[in-house]
This record gives sequence, structure tokens and C-alpha cells, in this order.
Amino acid sequence: MEIRSIGIIGAGQMGNGIAHVTALAGYRVVMMDISQDSLTAALSLIEKNLERQVSSAKITAAEKAKALAQIDTTLDISKVGQADLVIEAATEDETIKQSIFDLLLPHLQDHTILTSNTSSISITRLASRTDRPEKFMGFHFMNPVPVMKLVELIRGIATDETTYAACKQVVERLGKTAASAEDFPAFIVNRLLMPMINEAVYTLYEGVGNVVSIDSSMRLGANHPMGPLELADFIGLDTCLAIMNVLHDGLADTKYRPCPLLTKYVEAGWLGRKSQRGFYDYRSGTPVPTR
Ligand code: CAA
Repeated sequence: MEIRSIGIIGAGQMGNGIAHVTALAGYRVVMMDISQDSLTAALSLIEKNLERQVSSAKITAAEKAKALAQIDTTLDISKVGQADLVIEAATEDETIKQSIFDLLLPHLQDHTILTSNTSSISITRLASRTDRPEKFMGFHFMNPVPVMKLVELIRGIATDETTYAACKQVVERLGKTAASAEDFPAFIVNRLLMPMINEAVYTLYEGVGNVVSIDSSMRLGANHPMGPLELADFIGLDTCLAIMNVLHDGLADTKYRPCPLLTKYVEAGWLGRKSQRGFYDYRSGTPVPTR
């Protein structure tokens, strides 16, 4: 089955990145959100990020214009149901995702493949609440989507081979590489990455290092492009905490317990870059460590 059109639910940092790369690859894209402001902000960010790629000669101005023309936005979930492939990229909260699927299901075409960009939630459980577990799977992009080369593809217990093959073909057309992961909590990337970030927060909590020394240790000592606390701010501390909770609950092992300091930052609403404050304070334009 050939995918020609893609529906994206959620215009946040993942949703707008997914719209960017799928439109650039020539798919017809419809991006849906419940907030018109989020859709407007997403379109302007896509325009800005495409322009970055034009400036560094990765794409031409004509390709940028063509990509933008491929994207429609809507507040109406029924419009998304017309697509051959739907990628849900809403908040990392199982109840929210399930209520989105409940609203969407009556509008899907019979052949539509339904996927979730979830970074940790059970694909089998999400699929079981839909009318198409065999046409349901995990389609997990990394942030920033236009730059990162990996997509994790996660089969639920019932996902059929045609569905997997169609999604893999999409990943290849995006010029990205698919890694196949089994459906266990947080899959591969976040099973490895989040415990490292959580341990960095413990290192801060226990006073082993401050924000700057922890981040420079991993940037300069392990050649990571970003330090773990800077990366946590980039991903969103609420998302990091949600993933640690999925690991902790799903694997029932205390080694995944979220650091109380991570919980405290989230309770304060210090969620990282998106709220202008996390392990760094971004409000002045130059990131200032908060500890
Ligand atoms: N759109 C388009 N291009 C972008 C971009 C975006 N959103 N963000 C960065 N770029 C481009 C820049 O224009 C630049 O291009 P050129 O090299 O052609 O000039 C290039 O990417 C590098 O960017 P910068 O020079 O601005 O900055 P940098 O060298 O510090 O790189 C970074 C930025 C790519 C984000 C790098 O710091 C990095 O790789 N960080 C780690 C990111 C990471 O680990 N992501 C995974 C998070 S985990 C996840 O997403 C899974 C989950 O479920 C939580």
C-alpha cells in the first residue's frame, strides 16, 4: 500500500517537526490541533526551520515553498481521518491519547494506518482500544525532527507486516533510518537515554556537581552534543518525568525511580525551554543555570 497523505495530530514541537519533514518529502499533510494559536505558531516555526535549511543549502527556496504548500492545518479531527497514515503526536499522556483515538476512529478510512509518536507508552495497549490493532503501530521521531536521522518503529502484538512495511517505506522516503524496537516500556532510545538524564538529575540533587559541571562533563568528557540537563530542558522536563514513570511502573524496578528534584521542577512548572525555565533560565536570552 502506498502512503500519499499524512494526518498529524498535535502541532507541538514533535508535530510541527513531523509536518516539516513529511511535507518536504512530498506527502500531502494535514496538521490538526485544538488550538488555532498552536497551529499558527507551528506554521511559522516550520517556515523558519525550512529557511535554516535553505540558508545552509540543504534545500532550495523552491523546495521550501513546495513543502509549505503541502501543509494544511485544521481544528477539525475528522479532516485527519481522510489521510492514508495518521501520526498522533499529542501530549505524552495515555488518557489524552486514548480520547483522541476515540474521537478520530469514526472518521478513519478502512485502509488508514494509525500510529502514535509516543516515546514510551505501550503500543499494544493503545492499539487494543482501537478498531484496527493490526493497522496500528509506534512511529517515534527524535527531536529536532528535521535534524535527527532516526525513527523508532514499534510493532504492537497484533501489528501486521503490511503496516510495518508501509511505515518503513515512509521512513526511507524521509531520508531517515528506521530502528525496529519491541513494545516494552520506553522502547530503545528512551530506555537508555532517560535513565542517563535521571541519573544526571540525581547527580545534581546529591550535590556531586552543579548544572554547568554536569553538562560540561558529558559534553567534553563523553562528546555528547548537549549535556544531559540541557538535553532534558530541550526535551521537556514533564516528558522526561512521564517517561521515567512509565519505566518505573512498567518494569517495576526501583532503578528507574524518578529523581525527586525532577518531580520538583515539574511541579514548579519549570519544564525547560518551552516554559522558559528548567535546569537553565532562558528568559534573558542567554541560558543561566538555576543551580
Ligand atoms: N530544523 C532545521 N534545522 C535545524 C533545527 C531545526 N529544528 N535545529 C537545528 N538545525 C540545524 C541547524 O540549522 C544547523 O545546520 P547547519 O549545520 O547546516 O548549519 C544544525 O542543525 C546544527 O544546529 P546548530 O548549529 O544550531 O546547533 P548544534 O550544532 O548545537 O546542534 C542539535 C543542535 C542538533 C540540537 C544538537 O545539539 C544535538 O544533536 N543535540 C542532541 C539532540 C538529541 O539528543 N535529540 C534526541 C532527544 S530524545 C528524543 O527526541 C526522544 C524522546 O522521545 C524524548
